[in-house]
Amino acid sequence: MPTLSHNDAPNDIDSLSQSQFIKEIAEVINNSTPPKGIGINGYWGTGKTSALLQLHRELTGILPTDNKRPKNLQVTTVWFEAWRYQNEPVPIISLLHEIRTRIRLWNRFLGKSKKLMGVVLQGVFTAFDETIKVASAGLLQNTISGLNKAGEQWERNHYETPLQGQHISDLLEEAIEKALGSNSRNNRKLVIFIDDLDRCTPEVALKLLEGIKIYLNLKNCVVVFGMDQRQIEQALVKALDLKGDNNGHQAREYLEKICQDIYHLPLPDKDAKKAYLLKLLEGLKIGNDDNEHRQHLATVLSNYDCLPANPRKIKALANRLAVMLRANILTGDLTLIESTGVRREYALLISMTIIYTFHRQLNEQLEKDSKYINTVIMFAQDPSKVDKDLFEPMGGIKPSLAADKALPTNPSDSNIFRLHQLFRDLESITESEITIFLGK
Ligand SMILES: Nc1ncnc2c1ncn2[C@@H]1O[C@H](COP(=O)(O)OP(=O)(O)OP(=O)(O)O)[C@@H](O)[C@H]1O
Ligand SMILES: [Mg+2]
Repeated sequence: MPTLSHNDAPNDIDSLSQSQFIKEIAEVINNSTPPKGIGINGYWGTGKTSALLQLHRELTGILPTDNKRPKNLQVTTVWFEAWRYQNEPVPIISLLHEIRTRIRLWNRFLGKSKKLMGVVLQGVFTAFDETIKVASAGLLQNTISGLNKAGEQWERNHYETPLQGQHISDLLEEAIEKALGSNSRNNRKLVIFIDDLDRCTPEVALKLLEGIKIYLNLKNCVVVFGMDQRQIEQALVKALDLKGDNNGHQAREYLEKICQDIYHLPLPDKDAKKAYLLKLLEGLKIGNDDNEHRQHLATVLSNYDCLPANPRKIKALANRLAVMLRANILTGDLTLIESTGVRREYALLISMTIIYTFHRQLNEQLEKDSKYINTVIMFAQDPSKVDKDLFEPMGGIKPSLAADKALPTNPSDSNIFRLHQLFRDLESITESEITIFLGK
């Protein structure tokens, strides 16, 4: 049933040709020997949470919110949204609590013969409680090194009484081993998904990474981070108070200690972006001629690479395109752009919708003064030729072409002007051609 507007929920079903990418990471996890840290890196809104959900399903056959027995017991998962624990003084405690809570749940899903006996389960919980106590003692010292000191103190105390003596991470590792139902024949793993680390304050992000390094660097644990690597590195520079020109490099080295493999979310190319937009339009009410509309839009997008490589932004654009199409403003003009055979009216529809969605100030200017379109055309032809005063409404917009040279731009940002070629091919644009799109 088509809707008027898509929401922005992460999507566990891939429409961006990323399934091979997800399969490869799943294979690495299945065939790696932990401890292991894996990062899925992408800019905001490029699909990190969606990728983590797809990976979760690839590994277990279920989603994190499905409270049911996973299809594959080789991998057991915990889902941890870091920013939710933003105000916790020691975020690793929240993560340990979360794992502890999940253990009770997993145990319910195991068959009768696989279920942990009450006494074993109690032992597992005790190990977690001990670790949480140690981590909380670190809290009293209120520094990150406090976490380490608390661990060392615990070990000293326990090594003085050799019968109970056991390294804290051995204790936790063994508890997890039992909880997973591992034995000498299988090699079961706990996979911890940590999303939104980059949404935490620098201090919290650092504390969580430190906590993971100290307590969860275990032979049966894989930690998968969804992150914007740039943001995390900037946060680490701040939180670790790194100085000097190569502070970014130091931050990266710090991150690499915890996260050995970092996979960059593949950037959708022109065809993948087009297919995604058209698929989104299929789910939207766009009027009676929906097939025809989609076909003409497809021709525009096959000829002009004007979308950002960012599904969130493409979604916003699809929602807006649907508003425009439902408003029934197209006149049915059959004029074509000569060089590409694209219907002019649809080229203008996409251009004006992109301006409305991504370049707000420019849109406001055009609504105020539609003649300003001539400046936009000039900018499209050669940004350096546009008078700086006239340039003001386009102040935040970065050109992606200078004369005929492609400029380096962030593919996922929406303040990049990707309409150079399209505007060049449209040549002159009359005011009446664009006023139908303005103020809608
Ligand atoms: N592979 C995909 N297939 C279809 N839609 C996707 C895909 N990846 C992302 N999306 C869509 O793009 C939008 C952003 O996705 P998501 O929330 O996963 O990104 P994110 O990188 O986690 O964002 P944030 O930086 O805000 O955490 C959502 O609307 C989602 O439905
Ligand atoms: Mg996300």
